[in-house]
Amino acid sequence: MPVSSRWKVDLFPVLLVGLALLTTSLATPTAHAAEATPANGAVRTLIIDTDPGADDVIALLFAMASPQELKIQALTTVAGNVPLAKTSRNARLAREWAKRPDIPVYAGAPRPLLRTPIYAADIHGSEGITGVKVYEPSQPLAEGNAVDYLIRTLRAAPDRSVTLAMLGPETNLALALTQAPDITRGLRELVLMGGAHFNGGNITPTAEFNVFADPHADEIVLKSGVPITMLPLDVTHKILTSPERIAKLRNIGNQAGKTVADILDAYVQHDMQYYGLTGGPVHDATVIAYLLQPSLFRGRQVNVEVDSREGVGFGQTVTDWYGGLKRPANVNWISEGDAQGFFDLLTQRISRLP
Ligand code: BDR
Ligand code: CA
Repeated sequence: MPVSSRWKVDLFPVLLVGLALLTTSLATPTAHAAEATPANGAVRTLIIDTDPGADDVIALLFAMASPQELKIQALTTVAGNVPLAKTSRNARLAREWAKRPDIPVYAGAPRPLLRTPIYAADIHGSEGITGVKVYEPSQPLAEGNAVDYLIRTLRAAPDRSVTLAMLGPETNLALALTQAPDITRGLRELVLMGGAHFNGGNITPTAEFNVFADPHADEIVLKSGVPITMLPLDVTHKILTSPERIAKLRNIGNQAGKTVADILDAYVQHDMQYYGLTGGPVHDATVIAYLLQPSLFRGRQVNVEVDSREGVGFGQTVTDWYGGLKRPANVNWISEGDAQGFFDLLTQRISRLP
């Protein structure tokens, strides 16, 4: 689809989002900013919102292999890389491959808030994962909608206790915040893969896919007042595979290592060719590495706003790296990461799976 037709706005949900922007703009953007610090070693109560997606599947396996640090309450799915039925199936496949039947999977939003839906089958294949066989997993979805699950769970949670890892378009949380702005009380931190500044975009010259796929949702999330850590393309394009790194995963000798290596072998081809890189990024898995070992990363507290106007800047994260706008910081923007440290940690954790 030509980029120009991708930012068309459907009229149907305009009122809903107008209301959402109004309610969330009442929140204080920096209410928790001082607490936007990385994990301190304690077990995190975690929900993972995701649109699998090859790199999402690797992130999910990585997280589900780390129960000592991450107490995963649920996976919630959203339309993104492929339509919702396929992202939900792929999340259930990851759960099956990790042998974690205890984790429920809730399906959420089937489309973005306002804009025309877009997918990334050119990168992830029409099934959302390439390099491995996909099939219907044995365990079904949990009953109920992901947005209702988020509202219910966050309302019942102790103050600032739940971390939300977000690996796709941010539609589910935006809908939850719109319907129940009080849920911010239960959130400790949002750690999300999205945005681009120094690197430039991967879907337009300025926009990164997850934000471009639903910039109106990102706008609501950025104004929520919850501490936010973003892992943008600026860092994910510095943490690249190599034949040796993939071989180490394959040589673990378990099924999960082979699955991750097979997925990576297929997934990185596009980006290596398109960007002329020596290896490919594993975007969403950096979120899990950050949660497990934040010392692998470096960033800066900055003000980030998203451009949701039609035009060439649509979906761009406007990141005030030098503080020129003098607006309050609302994001811990990660710009540097230890690539070898990332792959060592990923390999160590994947070796714990069947
Ligand atoms: C992001 O877009 C998706 O295609 C990936 O899964 C990742 O979440 C990278 O821009
Ligand atoms: Ca994703």
